[in-house]
Amino acid sequence: MRIRARVGMSVDGHVTTPTGWPAHTADPAFVSGQSHGIREVLEGCEAAVMGRTTFEPALTNDRWPWPDLDVFVLASRRPAGTPDHVVTDGDPARLLEMIRAANRGGDVHLVGGPRTIQTFHALGALDTLELVVVPLLFGGGMRLTPALDPSLGLTFHSERALPGGAVEIVYSCKGSRSPLPGSPASQR
Ligand SMILES: NC(=O)c1ccc[n+]([C@@H]2O[C@H](COP(=O)([O-])OP(=O)(O)OC[C@H]3O[C@@H](n4cnc5c(N)ncnc54)[C@H](OP(=O)(O)O)[C@@H]3O)[C@@H](O)[C@H]2O)c1
Repeated sequence: MRIRARVGMSVDGHVTTPTGWPAHTADPAFVSGQSHGIREVLEGCEAAVMGRTTFEPALTNDRWPWPDLDVFVLASRRPAGTPDHVVTDGDPARLLEMIRAANRGGDVHLVGGPRTIQTFHALGALDTLELVVVPLLFGGGMRLTPALDPSLGLTFHSERALPGGAVEIVYSCKGSRSPLPGSPASQR
């Protein structure tokens, strides 16, 4: 099982729009149906994990965003309307144990946000940081740091251009338990 954090980011380094929406959702290519590679990633995933702030908007979505995945949420209180099958816990280490106990061999999509990515990094449980840089400038919004510790050790793994002008950059993270195939850490 790998825990894969995937983050949309504007060219000027913001992971949210000035109004707080994930960066990639502002991309016209996303609005017209381009998934920014997430469909391929989800093919290898069996679970999604995220912080409460990122999770809560899904409760009022027209469509449940994770129909085929187990869902885990880091939250000190269970948000009203949370479906019964969603696991919530306020203790990051305990939530990680539950994710590992439920795992059937697939990957885990760490949806975000920055605080929860940092929390999993601090637990030594972050395997990849995958950035999708969308061709937009926001001039404001949340950044990945300071929530994400700048000492996070990144080893470049791959990049690819995505339809619509976005670019995907994948890094494996220092101390990863499950390094990416072909990465230097996997060859030690
Ligand atoms: N660009 C992207 O791809 C992307 C992806 C996802 C989200 N986002 C954006 O990210 C923003 C939210 O990010 P965020 O970092 O502020 O929030 P977040 O990580 O989504 O959620 C934060 C919440 O998670 C819980 N949590 C996180 N770390 C914890 C810890 N160490 N111990 C205990 N609880 C912990 C807390 O819940 P409690 O308060 O209940 O204790 C905390 O308030 C949103 O604006 C969202 O749109 C962007």
